[in-house]
Amino acid sequence: MLNKGKIKLLFICLGNICRSPAAEEIMRQLVLRAGLEDRFQIDSAGIGSWHIGQLPDPRMRQTGEKFGYRFTHHARQFNPSIDFERFDLILVMDDENYRTITGMAANQTERDKIKRLARYMTRHDGQKDIPDPYFGGMDGFDRTIVLLEDACAGLLRHLRQEYTLI
Ligand code: 4NP
Repeated sequence: MLNKGKIKLLFICLGNICRSPAAEEIMRQLVLRAGLEDRFQIDSAGIGSWHIGQLPDPRMRQTGEKFGYRFTHHARQFNPSIDFERFDLILVMDDENYRTITGMAANQTERDKIKRLARYMTRHDGQKDIPDPYFGGMDGFDRTIVLLEDACAGLLRHLRQEYTLI
């Protein structure tokens, strides 16, 4: 996976209004802080079409501000005929996302790009996914950000090694 081009990351969740737009921005801030913004292209998309064009859920935006983030992505739907080609890694939040996106892959090369984001966490032993906060209380949104910060930090460490970034 050594190359001089940008590393293209696509974060996926069900609606693209809670977890994946937060992941996108948290990852972008980590990359900026590392001075690596020229090496990355970062985006997010949803499996469903319900929220296309919308800003993130107000609860996610409010929680983001509490943690020092501004979530401004406009929701879009994952498009298998474009996005598998355009991105190097497709990072899903839970098993349901994994099954759905894997089911849309046309071949093994596309399947190999799909990873569970939670695998990169190092501070939450036994946590296998980033749970959907949409139908729960506000504490679920705090938890989402805490898990995403852990996972995105781990993902960046992994990519720095894999792509031998300084
Ligand atoms: P997300 O959360 O997948 O983290 O964006 C959800 C947002 C909306 C719905 C489900 C999950 N929904 O059913 O509309």
